[in-house]
Amino acid sequence: MDSPQPLLEMEHITKSFGAVQALQDVAFRVYPGEAVGLVGDNGAGKSTLVKIISGVEHPDSGTIRFDGREVTIRNPEDARTMGIETLYQDLALINNLDIVANMFLGRELVQPWLRGAIQVLRSREMEAEARQILERLKINIGSVREKVEVLSGGQRQAISLGRAVGWGKKLILLDEPTAALGLREAQQALEIIGRLKDEGIATVIISHNLQHVFSVVDRIVVIRRGVIRGERLIGEVVGDEIVSMITGVAELRTIEGGLQPSSA
Ligand SMILES: Nc1ncnc2c1ncn2[C@@H]1O[C@H](COP(=O)(O)OP(=O)(O)O)[C@@H](O)[C@H]1O
Ligand SMILES: [Mg+2]
Repeated sequence: MDSPQPLLEMEHITKSFGAVQALQDVAFRVYPGEAVGLVGDNGAGKSTLVKIISGVEHPDSGTIRFDGREVTIRNPEDARTMGIETLYQDLALINNLDIVANMFLGRELVQPWLRGAIQVLRSREMEAEARQILERLKINIGSVREKVEVLSGGQRQAISLGRAVGWGKKLILLDEPTAALGLREAQQALEIIGRLKDEGIATVIISHNLQHVFSVVDRIVVIRRGVIRGERLIGEVVGDEIVSMITGVAELRTIEGGLQPSSA
């Protein structure tokens, strides 16, 4: 990347759950506005790494720098304050509130004394801003005054992404964003994720669907059994080397000198 200063820089990150070493001496970087795909088999440590970034889990050792300074991410609140948003499978939207209210949920709480008198005015302002953000991300929603409960899974995710943009987040973490979506919705979700780049927002995307990852990310990082096995800029990927890195076949080949994939 031509950007000299990473937005997120993790070094020597180690994390165990009892006897299970989930992460081992992990180095992971994300540059501003960059989309990074984090791939690996089940149990490789992907979610654990993302949970550390989002403050849900804590590393046993290692350092994290964000926006140029060393940080301790004690909890999800810390992460959010720093500008890190995580999109979970069960999205934290409130069903019986409309899209505008959901997009601004919590944001008005910053100045509680402003509630009441100028609420109507704020409401119109919020509606205009919500609409503008959704337009920028090309999210097609009938009306921003629609209650969230009538939306599809893909639309809900889109609203959550719009919400993160509205909050001025710098990094969005997506753990299997397309897993629960149908084909068409998954495609739309990927398009929206791709547009976050234009907003200058960096993303980390975990997905077992390599095609999905390849269609949106700039760089792909492979983790296996808690260890980062390699990374590639998307334009530099050769053949099926990512699959080989995920399964460990590439290393076997090197170590054993000519082992075929089938014998791994
Ligand atoms: N809270 C936990 N308690 C015990 N073991 C865990 C916990 N979270 C993850 N693990 C273990 O850590 C390893 C990495 O898990 P995870 O990060 O969820 O992998 P991935 O997301 O790549 O599938 C796995 O062996 C998993 O069983
Ligand atoms: Mg996982």
